[in-house]
Amino acid sequence: MPAKIIDGKAIAKKIREKIKTEVGSMKVKPGLAVIRVGDDPASIVYVNSKEKACLEAGFYSEKYELKEDIDESDLLKLINKLNKDKKIHGILIQLPLPAHISQHKVLEAVSPEKDVDGFNPVNFGRLLSGNKYLVPATPKGVVRLLDEIGVKIAGRNVVVIGRSNIVGKPVAVLLLERDATVTICHSKTKDLVEECKKADILISAVGKKGLVTKDIVKKDAVIIDVGITKSDGKLYGDVDFDNVKKIASWITPVPGGVGPMTIAMLLENTLFAKRKIEENK
Ligand code: GUN
Repeated sequence: MPAKIIDGKAIAKKIREKIKTEVGSMKVKPGLAVIRVGDDPASIVYVNSKEKACLEAGFYSEKYELKEDIDESDLLKLINKLNKDKKIHGILIQLPLPAHISQHKVLEAVSPEKDVDGFNPVNFGRLLSGNKYLVPATPKGVVRLLDEIGVKIAGRNVVVIGRSNIVGKPVAVLLLERDATVTICHSKTKDLVEECKKADILISAVGKKGLVTKDIVKKDAVIIDVGITKSDGKLYGDVDFDNVKKIASWITPVPGGVGPMTIAMLLENTLFAKRKIEENK
């Protein structure tokens, strides 16, 4: 039997509708500021979708589109201003940043209580030490999808391909916390095929079309495809979807799988940040 498709788009829609209803009865709307630096085409698309989702959910939204050659100090000044702005509960700096700007410095400048991406070292450290607060959106969305389909996580072998701070590392930590046995693979992994064949749950977050073929997938594995590559004007994941779906039990499509969940989790995080800021006033 072919794999069941994990409909991230539908699951995310349900979450967004629930958030919209909640926000509808709020006097003060959750406010999200999104900052993009430069004209990376993918970042333009992501930031515009984030802004659109915010407005649809009834959030207050600010979008900053800064020039590629902006000084690091000017970006830091803007972040400091937003840190103090009462209308803003969440600040997101779209990555990647241009090479002349220190990503570490910028992410450290975001107030941990408004860090809806969970990339500030305070929140990253909280996640790692088992005291999570604001959690990166894509990894959170991956775990939510696994919970939605009701797959058991504890005791299962999870293989994560990719070790980025945005997806690979945090998703590994979240699943370790749920008692999975987690292996992280990357470009220097000696035998990717052997590692992947052991996976009950395989998560690929590389951005390399066709990386995960059916030969490296165990029968009835759950496949989560976080990769995105554009080729001939079309979007592709890391997974050879048509062939892998013949042997997997569940699989996410690209587009329409993990992507919509990232945005839904960002809205959830902004709502969480607002609630916490109000509690701590
Ligand atoms: N670039 C790619 N994914 C992300 C994300 O989840 N957040 C931010 N800020 N930048 C990204």
